[in-house]
Amino acid sequence: MTGGAGFIGSNFVHHLVDHTDLRITVLDKLTYAASKESLAGLPEDRVQLVVGDIADEDVVDPLVAAHDAVVHYAAESHNDNSLNDPSPFIRTNILGTYTILEAVRKHDKRLHHVSTDEVYGDLELDDPERFTEDTPYNPSSPYSASKAGSDHLVRAWVRSFGVRATVSNCSNNYGPWQHIEKFIPRQITNVIDGIRPKLYGSGENVRDWIHADDHSSAVLTILEKGRIGETYLIGADGEKNNLEVVRLILTLMGKDADDFDHVNDRAGHDMRYAIESGKLRQELGWSPQFQDFESGLANTIKWYETHEDWWRPHKDATEAKYAEKGQ
Ligand code: NAD
Ligand code: DAU
Repeated sequence: MTGGAGFIGSNFVHHLVDHTDLRITVLDKLTYAASKESLAGLPEDRVQLVVGDIADEDVVDPLVAAHDAVVHYAAESHNDNSLNDPSPFIRTNILGTYTILEAVRKHDKRLHHVSTDEVYGDLELDDPERFTEDTPYNPSSPYSASKAGSDHLVRAWVRSFGVRATVSNCSNNYGPWQHIEKFIPRQITNVIDGIRPKLYGSGENVRDWIHADDHSSAVLTILEKGRIGETYLIGADGEKNNLEVVRLILTLMGKDADDFDHVNDRAGHDMRYAIESGKLRQELGWSPQFQDFESGLANTIKWYETHEDWWRPHKDATEAKYAEKGQ
C-alpha cells in the first residue's frame, strides 16, 4: 500500500494487522504529513516500510511486481496547502497515480484507489440531495481537482486496458494521528495551548464526519468484495457544521463554547459535503461502528492530550503558516 505512514493509511495498516493475516509493504515518501511513529510496534514479519516516491517508476515497478494487490492512499491531502502551492498536488496525486496505474497494468495486479468526496464539488446547505456514485464531478480546489484527475485516470485504465481496479470516495475523517494542520486537531491543540480556535468565515460549512477506523473497515470490505470497475462512496451520516464542531470541542475540553475567533475564509471554500453510502452498505454489507460523533471526538481529544510529544514539534510552524494568511 502507498501512503501508509499518513493519517488514514497508518490506520489501515493497523486494521489489516488486526483483522487479516496479510503481509503489507508500505511505500511512503515520508513527507511532512507522514509519521513513522504511527507504525511503531507492528510485527516486523508482516509490515515493511519502503521510503520512496510513488511518482518514481524505478521504485514502484518492482514493488508492484512483487505483490498481489495495491491499495493506493498516498497523496498531498490538505486543501489550504494546495492553495499556497499546487505543484506537489499535481505531481503526487496525478503523476503518482499514473505511475501506479502503469505498474498494475504491466503486472496485472488488483488496485484499490482511495479518493475523496470533494471530487463532486459542494452542495447547498438546504439541498435535500447527498452525493452518490452518479453525482457529476465538479471539484473546486487544486487538491480536489488533482484527486478528480486521479479518479478519471483509474476509470480510464479500467475501461481502456482492463485494469482490475475499484475506487472509493470518502467523507471527512477524524481520529488519532491526524496532522495538526487539519481542522479538528488544529482546534484541539489550540485549546490545549490556550489559543482560541479559528473558524473560517461564518462557520456554516458542513462536513460529513467519519471515524478513520470506519474508513479502514470500508476499504478492506471493498478490497475483498468490491466489484471490479465500480466506485463506492464511504460515509457515516455524520453531517455537522464547523461552528457546531468547534463549540463541541470547547465544551468537551471544559471551555466556554463561544471562546473562538472567526478568521479569514478559505478561497473557494466548499459549503457542504454529504455522502449517501447505500451502495456500499447494501451491496457489500458494510456499516460504520462509530455512530456517536461526540464520544469519538472525546476519545480523539484525549488522544491529543496524551500524545503531545508527537504533535508539539509541529505546532509553532503550523500556526505561523496560518497567521500569515490571517487564519
Ligand atoms: P496524509 O496527508 O495524512 O498522508 C499522506 C501520506 O502520503 C503521507 O504519509 C505522505 O508521506 C505520503 N505521500 C505523499 N506524497 C507521496 C509520494 N509522492 N510518494 C509516496 N508517499 C507520499 O493524508 P490522509 O489524510 O491520510 O489521506 C490519505 C488518502 O485518503 C488521500 O488519498 C486522501 O485524498 C484520501 N482521503 C482523505 C480524507 C481525509 O479526511 N483526510 C477523506 C477522504 C479521502
Ligand atoms: O471531504 C474529504 C476531505 O476532507 C479530504 O479529501 C481531505 O484530504 C481532508 O483534508 C478534508 O478536507 P477539508 O478541507 O474538508 O478538511 P479541513 O480539516 O482542512 O477543514 C475542515 C473544515 O474546517 C473546512 O470547512 C475548513 C474549516 N476550517 C479548517 C481549518 C484548518 C476552519 O474553519 N478552521 C481551520 O483552522
